[in-house]
Amino acid sequence: MNLKTLGVILCGVAIMQSCTSKNSDSTQASDSLKVNKIEKVAFGKLPDGTVADLYTLHNANGMEVKITNYGGTITSLTAPNKNGKYENVTLACDSLSGYLKGVPYFGALVGRYGNRIAKGKFTLDGKEYSLAQNNGVNALHGGKKGFDKVLWTATPIDGEEPQLKLNYTSADGEEGYPGKLEVEVVYTLQKDNSLKIDYKATTDKATVVNLTNHTYFNLTGDANKEILDHELTLQADKFVPVNETLIPTGELKAVAGTPFDFTTTHKIGERINDTKDIQIKYGKGYDHCWVFTDSGNQLKNVASVYEATSGRLMEVLTTEPAIQFYTGNFLDGSVIGKGGIPAKFRTGFCLETEHYPDSPNQPKFPTTVLKPGETYQTTTVYKFSSK
Ligand code: BGC
Repeated sequence: MNLKTLGVILCGVAIMQSCTSKNSDSTQASDSLKVNKIEKVAFGKLPDGTVADLYTLHNANGMEVKITNYGGTITSLTAPNKNGKYENVTLACDSLSGYLKGVPYFGALVGRYGNRIAKGKFTLDGKEYSLAQNNGVNALHGGKKGFDKVLWTATPIDGEEPQLKLNYTSADGEEGYPGKLEVEVVYTLQKDNSLKIDYKATTDKATVVNLTNHTYFNLTGDANKEILDHELTLQADKFVPVNETLIPTGELKAVAGTPFDFTTTHKIGERINDTKDIQIKYGKGYDHCWVFTDSGNQLKNVASVYEATSGRLMEVLTTEPAIQFYTGNFLDGSVIGKGGIPAKFRTGFCLETEHYPDSPNQPKFPTTVLKPGETYQTTTVYKFSSK
């Protein structure tokens, strides 16, 4: 027997002796080929000294999403162009201090009530509640310190489809809303280059809830460029007309024959300045809520946006009944984004999946009331590819 053979035999005995641990080691080894580890770094300090973290999720294709637990904010999301190049396609800031200076909800989780509530007031079970009037006379996106400005508890979950679970407890009376609300949002970076967002909430008193994500997309990958040539399709045959303060009139209007008809594909810029349409005038472009033709609460394909120079395509799926399509009409260059690039007029668009604005004051709209014992649960998916 030569030394090599002896070595093989001894090794075999050793393997048999440690059979159990070997088996679990080899399982781990094959799993680790598939597991994408989430990286965590400090993102910066809040004024009270608390540290906010930044988590990076990757998938096997090379797509990467960065999320901070400050506001549950997406600070970068890369998507492939037609040559397979992954670039960030969102408006965002380089550092926490950028967000703390004040940004118009770049990438953030919005709540407890996304969108507007007229005059910051609503009545629930006979009691009137008052909210901060932080948008002219109206309440917008959860108030002065909405869910976009709080620190969430983050739990990273490594895997082939890595997840970041975010939890936040909104106290009874916070920002004027009744009920202690336990909120959980899970971001999942999926194998097919989609980002899934699952929202859940429970309450101990009746309250109103409308959660969304407020990412501004620019599929060119260049935040200097306008989004007017992006081609949009929306599976929505109605929209919610508003008054001059962007509060719903209470009616739903058919999109047919108006600049709001995206049931067939149109460039965003094609009719955006059609100010003889009073709704375009009020929104200073598009800043409205579209109601899906399919009103079911299953996950359904509701929107797609294609950008021809990069070849990037984004598809939106949601369980929600509606979507706020906002074309960055209030961006004026005063907020400085990544790489020192000012966020200029119409350089990003948002597709905020949600319930209709001002639902708490609109008896004809689907309810946004959440009662104790019920679970608020919605899912939205942003899927990226190129062609
Ligand atoms: C609103 C806009 C607002 C923007 C940033 C959007 O959801 O509809 O009117 O300017 O958020 O606050």
